Amino acid sequence: MATIYSDISRTFSEYLLLPNLTTKDCMPENVDLATPITKFAKGEKPSIQLNIPIVSAIMQAVSNDTLAIALAKCGGLSFIYGSQSIEDQAEMVRRVKKHKSGFVVSDSNVSVHHTLRDVLAIKEKTGHSTIAVTDDGTATGKLLGIVTGRDYRLTRDPLDKKVADFMTPFKDLIVGYVGITLSEANDIIWEHKLNSLPIIDKDQRLQYLVFRKDYDDHKQNPAQLMDSKKRLVVGAGINTRDYNERVPALLDAEVDILCVDSSDGFTEFQRETIQTIKKKYPDVKIGGGNVVDREGFMYLVESGADFVKVGIGGGSICITREQKGIGRGQASAVIEVAKARDEYYEKTGIYIPLCSDGGIVHDYHVTLALAMGADFVMMGRYFARFDESPTKKVKRGNSYVKEYWGEGSNRARNWQRYDLGGNANMKFEEGVDSYVPYAGKLKDNLDVTLNKIRATMSSCGAKSIRQLQETARIVLVSSTSLIEGGAHDVILKDSEY
Ligand code: IMP
Repeated sequence: MATIYSDISRTFSEYLLLPNLTTKDCMPENVDLATPITKFAKGEKPSIQLNIPIVSAIMQAVSNDTLAIALAKCGGLSFIYGSQSIEDQAEMVRRVKKHKSGFVVSDSNVSVHHTLRDVLAIKEKTGHSTIAVTDDGTATGKLLGIVTGRDYRLTRDPLDKKVADFMTPFKDLIVGYVGITLSEANDIIWEHKLNSLPIIDKDQRLQYLVFRKDYDDHKQNPAQLMDSKKRLVVGAGINTRDYNERVPALLDAEVDILCVDSSDGFTEFQRETIQTIKKKYPDVKIGGGNVVDREGFMYLVESGADFVKVGIGGGSICITREQKGIGRGQASAVIEVAKARDEYYEKTGIYIPLCSDGGIVHDYHVTLALAMGADFVMMGRYFARFDESPTKKVKRGNSYVKEYWGEGSNRARNWQRYDLGGNANMKFEEGVDSYVPYAGKLKDNLDVTLNKIRATMSSCGAKSIRQLQETARIVLVSSTSLIEGGAHDVILKDSEY
């Protein structure tokens, strides 16, 4: 007979944290959100640590290079999605690793043969008014001049005027050379009252632009997640099929950490993938998942996973539970796996970080997941709403939305994530194609979320995530008291009545 569990499968909204004593030194600004992402032995440090307990989902609609740069600047990490060609994924990783704070690769470029009409079209498309003029019209061609709004007058100049006839030519430009530091570049910008400084190599080829407004970039992002060479840290998702070709390409692009992206990680395919990669590249860090119980967790740990990702069926775009009838409430899954993790640590002295993946609806769910034993959370819907996510911003009615689709939807067709073996195709959908409300810049939103997490931890008397995991007190809430959780019995001023 099948094993029937008497415990109910529960999700985050069914729980609340009880406040603990808040000591005077436990103010939100003293709360440290650093957290491990790779396994480590007692008394040692993890080789990679996050500065905030948040990573972005391995999804086409979420984790590209732009979002990865924005999130790493805030102390988190993105796993670049794997449901794209090996070359394209490696290129995204490379762009993150090459990103230098304040040094921007020019995205608005023309050649001398272009016209004022072309310049205006590029300005409209990118929103940038500093346009580089290079011999081949690319971001890394030989720099021949710069065009800014000061170089043309729309009321006088004809639209077919050639760029060569109105650009500021190279001989009149002040430039910096590769190797210059951000602070040296800014000194030149201030000294010469410039808006931007082109950085060129010894052959006069354009490499970067430094803008006056980026001056404080590194000061604004004190939590930036950097490797030992001061480059941003980035991860990448892989599948259990083409890892022999994909992994070397990602390592060549200098990816920092990998994660096997699978909707069900309790499989021999996943074990084989992790073991083969570990054998070939013993230093490579690789997470496994997803699992929802002790058995799945132990299987991946014994396979060599550096962290384990927890969650099946809780994602906002996920219809796995409806389609296949498998999964578990996210809170129950995290609680059981965390218990197994703690026992494993007790027994072996090896700490395996846990990632709670999917189903974060409110900011406080992040704190709950941490208190239940997760070391960091992975979010998709949350990040899809921001400017930096790869998807289209669309106007619907009076407001803006962004597109967000599941990896198991017909749109993404990421069959490698869902198919356990056999033929290379998707037999039915496990995700939907949807919209999420547009929410602006990643940093502005993440700052609010982190402030809430710090405030909750402060109320729980915890100055670190470890302390929260050890001392949090969590209660189940009744469905009646859930109603009481929001505003109730009042008429909200901005609601219709
Ligand atoms: P969210 O943060 O609730 O939107 O959940 C994001 C998570 O949902 C991802 O990290 C994946 O684990 C999972 N996911 C992504 N695409 C699909 C899908 O198509 N079906 C089911 N789960 C998905």
